[in-house]
Amino acid sequence: MRVVSGIQPTGNLHLGNYLGAIKQWVAMQDAMGPGEDSLFFLADLHALTVAIDPKELNSNTIEMAATLLAAGIDPDRAILFNQARVREHSELAWILGGTARTGWLNRMTQWKDKAGKNREGASVGLYTYPVLQAADVLLYKATHVPVGDDQKQHLELARDIATKFNQDFGVELFPLPDPLISAAAPRIMSLRDGSAKMSKSDPSDGSRINLIDSDDTIVQKLKKAKSDGDLLPDSFGGLADRPEAKNLVTIYAALSDISPDAVMTEFAGKGFGAFKPALADLAVAKLGPIRDRLTRLLEDRGAVTEALSKGAARATALAAPTLAEAQRAVGL
Ligand code: ADP
Ligand code: NA
Repeated sequence: MRVVSGIQPTGNLHLGNYLGAIKQWVAMQDAMGPGEDSLFFLADLHALTVAIDPKELNSNTIEMAATLLAAGIDPDRAILFNQARVREHSELAWILGGTARTGWLNRMTQWKDKAGKNREGASVGLYTYPVLQAADVLLYKATHVPVGDDQKQHLELARDIATKFNQDFGVELFPLPDPLISAAAPRIMSLRDGSAKMSKSDPSDGSRINLIDSDDTIVQKLKKAKSDGDLLPDSFGGLADRPEAKNLVTIYAALSDISPDAVMTEFAGKGFGAFKPALADLAVAKLGPIRDRLTRLLEDRGAVTEALSKGAARATALAAPTLAEAQRAVGL
């Protein structure tokens, strides 16, 4: 098994990013056995497809890497790197650009959504983004790629590109990567509005718990989180029309690695006056150590860049032979 996954570098990561993405990566790393690899990269090349501030791109990349390390990614086990430092990604993407068809890219719903009505004004990179994504995984002959709903179509495209490349050039170079559907990845909602996603772009800081928040801020935000006056029922299904309650229980379950129903068993018949302090204690216990490690890494960025360059060297060792094979196949 070889798992490859990327994430765009952003700063100010929050609890939704942690429970929905970062914690899943740590679990994947931990699940790898001997001879298996997990590769995690910061997709800084993908970030260039929309307007960026060069100063922010670099600091976001470091901040994101620091957050991953603080959350438990171990650079001696997982291969952690940023895409721009392994130039094979760009080179293979160009070669695969000869294989991908414009008709395939035209059908990508992400492209249609992100370009919106102004297609003429969208960058070429935004359009060919899925080809670079295909290169990101095929370069490592990934067997599994974790995908959310919004990325399923891009993985299908990577499989189509791999199939056509192998056929056109009469090689068996690229195995078809399978999706790794992580049933455990919860969707965390805003603490102020149970129908909106917790997001860094929400103008209300109280809507989210930032991974850099102090213990006291975590406690205060959870205290003020929107809930309701009803008691908790004995099953998670009983919260169907109580989105804020459902969200707080989901957070508790994800932080403590138990099922939402198990949380309900623990708190059935109690109200939020009892539940919220328990959730606050749990959140401080789980997030506090991550914040402390993150703070130290942000003060010593050399340790982060060192981990990234070590990761880039390990990634290059796997990527270079695949690129050479692809070049040979097409006659370069
Ligand atoms: P944001 O929505 O704050 O801009 P990103 O789009 O940068 O976050 O997401 C980075 C990663 O974190 C993605 O894998 C995304 O699915 C995950 N993620 C973001 N917000 C949440 C959330 N509220 N709940 C679960 N996962 C989330
Ligand atoms: Na998002």
